[in-house]
Amino acid sequence: MKPVYGLGIESSCDETALAVLKDGVEVLSKPLFSQIALHEDYGGIVPEIASRAHLEKLPLLLDQCMQDLAEANLSLNDLSYVAVTMRPGLQGSLLIGYQAALAISHQANAALIPIHHLEAHFYAARFSQWSPSYPFLGVLLSGGNSSMFVVNGLGNLEKIADTMDDAAGEALDKAAALLGLPYPGGPSLDRLASVYEELPEEENPLPVILSDQPRSLFDFSFSGLKTALLYTIKKQPEYSKEKLAFYFRERIIQLVTRNLKKAILKTSLRTVIAAGGVLANPRLGKRLKELAQEMNVEIIIPAREYCTDNAVMVSSLGHCYFTSGEIPESYFVTSKNNFTWEKLRN
Ligand code: KG4
Repeated sequence: MKPVYGLGIESSCDETALAVLKDGVEVLSKPLFSQIALHEDYGGIVPEIASRAHLEKLPLLLDQCMQDLAEANLSLNDLSYVAVTMRPGLQGSLLIGYQAALAISHQANAALIPIHHLEAHFYAARFSQWSPSYPFLGVLLSGGNSSMFVVNGLGNLEKIADTMDDAAGEALDKAAALLGLPYPGGPSLDRLASVYEELPEEENPLPVILSDQPRSLFDFSFSGLKTALLYTIKKQPEYSKEKLAFYFRERIIQLVTRNLKKAILKTSLRTVIAAGGVLANPRLGKRLKELAQEMNVEIIIPAREYCTDNAVMVSSLGHCYFTSGEIPESYFVTSKNNFTWEKLRN
């Protein structure tokens, strides 16, 4: 069969990324520019800076893709589809990726496939020996989202849990800022916490999150923990930053594993894909592997470089849509923020 080549474009937040895949799983090119250094001084992402950086870097990354294609005796004209993250994300940043995708798809006479970023995160698992099969339980923990879905098929995701306030990554980022750690907080807090291999649970000064949450509920909440950290820093100076980082991370991991366990029991699903930037955390990954053994289920975590935002996952999901013939139409034309999953399918 003729191979299918497809380009993915990701520009929803602070990563400008392109990826060309062969048949959805073989990476031919994956240039990525991380804007971390540009936002560092501000302690968070500045949308205007993000948009400008996407505008500046995207053509350079496209040049890189074209060079990589040329080395494989290919060109943009060989692309069958161009998949692009349409939402959620920063509006200006998304627009830049979309305009680029539109132009390239016209030029290459390739199908334009709008992609929902959260759905794409799960398809990073295709690079960890997962071939799409449904249903599965999708867990997404990133800087902006903490949710769980029953994924019944392409564009068919039923949200069964969400965060009631902050996202897990957001909580880690804010906690790191309280501890005076550099941006982005998740990895710096993890580095500090990793000074300790283990600490006694009974000495954790931070409260167990949602300790009275019923078994049937598994929504997340992380903002109270951040407040508890603030008061502990002020009132219990005997706790070093390293210990607080460790105990904070521990509470987050506890809630994630506890609620995932409840969701597995409730849905009886045997395959879990856990994705998003927070899954780049090795201790969380280890705990989830232990949970998989305990519950006799398969928990797939994409490789670390594909946990955080990237275009490989976008192109990979684009490939699934392209080959299924079910290209989501026109939802991207509606620029309202109240996007629903149904719109992706209409
Ligand atoms: O999926 P992602 O790259 O995109 C956004 O949501 O923007 O996730 C970013 C989040 C940030 O909050 C970051 O602090 C967190 O993932 N993160 C980590 C680690 N690496 C990134 N959190 C904990 N441990 C890490 N190693």
